[in-house]
Amino acid sequence: MTTLNYIPFDSHVHFRRGAMLRTVVPYTARQCWGAVVMPNTATPHILTPDDADAYRNEILFASHPVVGENFVPLVTGYLTPKTDPIDIAHGYKKGKWHGMKVYPPGATTHSNEGVAARDLLTHPALPVMADIGMPLLLHPEVNALHGDIVDPYDRERLFVDTLEELLYRYPTLRLSVEHVTDEATARFMMSYGKTGQVVCTITAQHLLFDRRDLHEDGWQPHLFCYPILKRKKSRDAVIALATGGFGFVSAGTDSAPHPTHAKERAAGCAGGVFSAHIMVELYAQAFANAGALDKLEAFLCVNGPRFYGLKPCPGTVNIVESARAIDAMIAIEGGDKLRPFGFHEDPSKAFKLRYRPIFH
Ligand code: DOR
Ligand code: ZN
Repeated sequence: MTTLNYIPFDSHVHFRRGAMLRTVVPYTARQCWGAVVMPNTATPHILTPDDADAYRNEILFASHPVVGENFVPLVTGYLTPKTDPIDIAHGYKKGKWHGMKVYPPGATTHSNEGVAARDLLTHPALPVMADIGMPLLLHPEVNALHGDIVDPYDRERLFVDTLEELLYRYPTLRLSVEHVTDEATARFMMSYGKTGQVVCTITAQHLLFDRRDLHEDGWQPHLFCYPILKRKKSRDAVIALATGGFGFVSAGTDSAPHPTHAKERAAGCAGGVFSAHIMVELYAQAFANAGALDKLEAFLCVNGPRFYGLKPCPGTVNIVESARAIDAMIAIEGGDKLRPFGFHEDPSKAFKLRYRPIFH
């Protein structure tokens, strides 16, 4: 048995809005005391400090039946070419939003209003954010170059130049490189990672799987996410980064719910893995595979909140060995369905969980 002396924290999660939000928030609130919530909510995105306020209230309302007042959502803002630096600073100082998220247009779900790598370097928000110490969260992919579409497997490594240039131009900017998946980004983090200033998050699926799993049996839509799973060499580099005991690396599930009709369809497949229901189980399994369960607590509970200026939340979580599988789909109000990661109608194809967290 492994014991965590703090409650987990998810440094990167998608809740959406409305019925989907009401369905998924409780899963995160059952395992985490807080989370950094992404702003690509589409109808519309979280564009202003007031949007962030309303969004936070919607999340609190949904978490209330599960944990009362005890859930802490750190809402982030969606950086567009037009976002006013004055609004950014105002919302940060008032505690309405806790970072700005960069989505290169076309790189991922609901990213079209975002900022491309080449335009980011001169965005007027950056000097202001560097000055006030506000985190810039990056979706680190270049998906279009010289008018051409970039191969999905190359998109993340091509963003590393932008990361280096950002640090060169704004040495005090606080950066979070979200969901590291490529060995080039892992190498960047090993060189430039700095607790409190240059940090990164890592998903469970990028620790447990690589592109061989994505292409198994033809194609696995429920392992398809942005950035795409890479080859084993990259996965190994990401595992080394996650389990290396670095204070600048934390768990960010990137749990991203899409209804089954958007993932299981004749053409197109929405990107995202919904994993919030088994966050602790999946990370425990990945760390156990690497013989690094002793590094799990800092990764899951301490490093994430620290970057956002928060102390870890004391509590006891016993992680016990216990084999099980997810045994049901999730119904969304209004008739949609959500497939929780791991569930399969054929039990022989369901993901085999090896751990279970017991919260005290
Ligand atoms: O797979 C992903 N899904 N990656 C992202 O960056 C966004 C997310 C979503 O919102 O669905
Ligand atoms: Zn995300």
